[in-house]
Amino acid sequence: MKLILLGPPGAGKGTQAKMLTERYRIPQISTGDILRAAVKEGTPMGVKAKGYMDAGGLVPDEVVVGIVRERLQQSDCQNGFILDGFPRTVAQADALNSTLADLDKNLDAVISLEVDPEALVERLTGRRTCRDCGRGFHVTFDPPAVAGKCDACQGELIQRDDDKEETIRKRLEVYRAQTEPLVAYYRSAGLLSAIDGMQDIQVVKNKILAVLAAK
Ligand code: AP5
Repeated sequence: MKLILLGPPGAGKGTQAKMLTERYRIPQISTGDILRAAVKEGTPMGVKAKGYMDAGGLVPDEVVVGIVRERLQQSDCQNGFILDGFPRTVAQADALNSTLADLDKNLDAVISLEVDPEALVERLTGRRTCRDCGRGFHVTFDPPAVAGKCDACQGELIQRDDDKEETIRKRLEVYRAQTEPLVAYYRSAGLLSAIDGMQDIQVVKNKILAVLAAK
């Protein structure tokens, strides 16, 4: 299964990608996670990316296109992959088409998760992530058994730097201007399935599985 999860910040791309990797045994490729790891390690790419990310803007296309091109050539992507947070511009989508053509692969599906803007702000301000294993939670919609602690590894739950309300609103603006055109891009390519992302996490998962089962 070669899949893109498309949707605004907080739509549930990461939440669903983690469940789908277990179901299909294919890797989740999250450009956001890769960039955050580079920022944490202080690599030259991370230093360059940090300013854009903290401001809620997009990291330049050439940086993320290079990351994904390299990642897709690794052996664990042989049987498929889930792209989460990439592509985010038409230029990135065009670059992905070239990379896949070079690798003799085709996309199977693009799932667009649709969520009301105000719900996105509530989801992102309440999101918490385990510092150690990266598992995601929400203080209201998907709370941990013990406040502040990861259910899986007992690690500390932290809030992302870009999950402050002002930065979230900037990220949503950037999504509308630069990423939303990809909905029409993939619809015209006959690949798009839109799913109502306002429903419960498990209901969304089942709807995605139903779409993918029909591919
Ligand atoms: P990235 O990490 O990709 O962030 P994003 O796209 O803004 O998406 P999020 O991770 O915020 O949301 P999500 O859809 O994964 O939601 P989640 O499942 O966590 O990018 C961060 C930054 O990196 C960008 O701003 C940019 O600077 C840079 N970047 C990354 N990729 C780039 C690219 N390709 N080009 C250029 N720059 C790039 O869910 C959110 C919360 O809601 C969670 O708490 C979850 O528990 C809860 N939730 C999920 N589903 C539901 C549901 N159905 N009902 C109720 N709650 C739910």
